Parts: sequence; structure tokens; C-alpha cells
Amino acid sequence: MDRLKAVLTEAHERLSAEPELGVIDWLATELSTSFDEAMTGGDLQEFQTFCRSHPLSQILLMDPYARRAFEKPRGYAGDAVMLDYIYRPTRSSLDGIAGVIHEATTSLPNAKSILWRRDYLATLINSTMLSRETAEVLSVASGHMRELDRLRDITSHTNVRFTALDQDADSIAEARSTYKEYVISGQAKSFASLIRERAASKRFDLVYSAGLFDYLQDNTAVALIKAMFSRLQSGGILSIANFTRDSHGRGFMAGFMDWCLIYRNEEDLRSLADAACPKTSHRIFRDQPRNVVYLELFADRNEH
Ligand SMILES: C[S@@+](CC[C@H](N)C(=O)[O-])C[C@H]1O[C@@H](n2cnc3c(N)ncnc32)[C@H](O)[C@@H]1O
Repeated sequence: MDRLKAVLTEAHERLSAEPELGVIDWLATELSTSFDEAMTGGDLQEFQTFCRSHPLSQILLMDPYARRAFEKPRGYAGDAVMLDYIYRPTRSSLDGIAGVIHEATTSLPNAKSILWRRDYLATLINSTMLSRETAEVLSVASGHMRELDRLRDITSHTNVRFTALDQDADSIAEARSTYKEYVISGQAKSFASLIRERAASKRFDLVYSAGLFDYLQDNTAVALIKAMFSRLQSGGILSIANFTRDSHGRGFMAGFMDWCLIYRNEEDLRSLADAACPKTSHRIFRDQPRNVVYLELFADRNEH
């Protein structure tokens, strides 16, 4: 932990002397190295305890984004309200060091990947709409559906019906009241219901889930991919996203935000796809900021 101690001390001194975004960026990069070492050595808990007990922790938690992850008012880090700090930034009333930290945590590479994911989903929905009279779309763990902010920018067409499944009824209500031009049916329940209800009658042209698989162990992830895939119409697309093992914020998130994801790379998603839907054509790719990897599975026209 000597290296970690030196990094935290240097970050603390630099932030106290002159708060600037570059210090948080540097700290995040350094913490990723320490995080990887801790994971390899089975010392994650020690890494987290060390970060949290450092005086730097109190300073970093002045940022409401980091604090919300740490305090978990909805039981887990990364809820839809927290993500709105990234999707819909407001001119922060925070000044000084807290303002700098907030700007950094909501604009560094992981945040860029969340915005990239929103834009990608909007493009995917739009292309589904272009090829159907009315596109049927299922979003699993839909949150506030901020991809619809982007969809509004891309097209004025509304030939789409969404089914928004989320365990959080408040998030569904927020999406329905914000995006009134779209038909959105809410299902306030756990994704586990999709796994349990095998004989579902409704089929979709697009089924996607963003911000969920990073919380699921492999066996659950495989069962959910199977359940989602079985709800596709022929010609439909399933898309899931996962933060990568080398994503920029991994050390900062684990150390100071108590936000530990299940990271996956391309080969991990390939294994999930092979286990859930062997022989199904798929595409795996990474986003442009390079922190999130995507799996798309295609329901061939003769498969259903
Ligand atoms: C990180 S947010 C992602 C929201 C949105 N998809 C996005 O990309 O911005 C995770 C969402 O998963 C939902 N969620 C968590 N566990 C769930 C479960 N077991 N079943 C259904 N939704 C769940 C949460 O309520 C939350 O809205």
C-alpha cells in the first residue's frame, strides 16, 4: 500500500494547493493501477479501507455524484437519479474544490462512455423505427430512458412503442412524464420476471439493456440474455452493454465511491453469448471512449 499512500498524499496536496480537473484525471489513472494490483492480490477490501480512511475521501465526497454512489439511497450505486448528473448536467452551484471534483467525475472518460451509450441506443432505436411501421422496443432496467433525449434530436417520428421494465417505479414514472410523445408502457418489476416467465407472448424488434449487466454474475447474465433473446421477433436485435475491465474510472469508483462493478471485456461477452445463444450471429465491439463493450445478437429471420 506504499504506492497507494504516496498517490493519495500527492493528490491531496495538489488538490488543496490548486484544485483542477487534471488532478482527478491523474488520480483516477493511478488508482486504476492500484485497483488492478489489489484485485490480483485479493486485497480489494484493504484497498477500499485505505482509500476511505484517507483525508482525501472527505474532500472527494463533497461531490454530490460521488456522494450519492457512496450513500446508495436506492440501495445500490449508479441509480437513474445519479446518472442524470451526467445526462443532464445543470450549472453547478458548487464552487471551489467541490465544483472541480464534480465537473471531473461527471465528464471524465467513464462519463463520456455513458453519453456514448445513450447516443448509440438512440441510433439503434431510430434504425429499428426506419425499418418497421411501428417498432416494438423493450428496455430492461430502463431507468429514466435518457436515450429518448437523443432520439428526439435524431428524428421527429414517433412510430415506436416502448416497454420500460425497471424495478424502480419512480424511474418509469419519470420517463413516462418526460417523453409524452412516445408510447411507453411501464413494467415496475425485476428482470428476474423475464427469466421466470418463459411463455411470453409479446415479441419485440429491439430488446436492450444498459447499466444492468455490470451488476450481474455470469449465470444470471446468461439466463437473462436467453430470456431477452426469446422475446425477439424474427429479424430483431438484442443489445447489452458492459463496462470493461480496463475502464478508466474503475479504481476511483471502487476506492472512493464504493461502486464495484462486474467488468467484462470482449472475450467475456463472447463467452456469455456462446453460453446463452450458441450459433446465433452476433457482433461485439467497444465504444469510442473505450470503456464499454457491447454485444448485439441477431434473431435471424428463420429462427422464430
Ligand atoms: C445504472 S441504471 C441504468 C439506467 C438506464 N438503463 C441507463 O442506461 O441510463 C440501472 C437501472 O437498473 C435498475 N435495476 C436494478 N436492478 C434491477 C432489477 N433487479 N430489475 C429491474 N431493474 C433493475 C435500476 O432501478 C436502475 O434504473
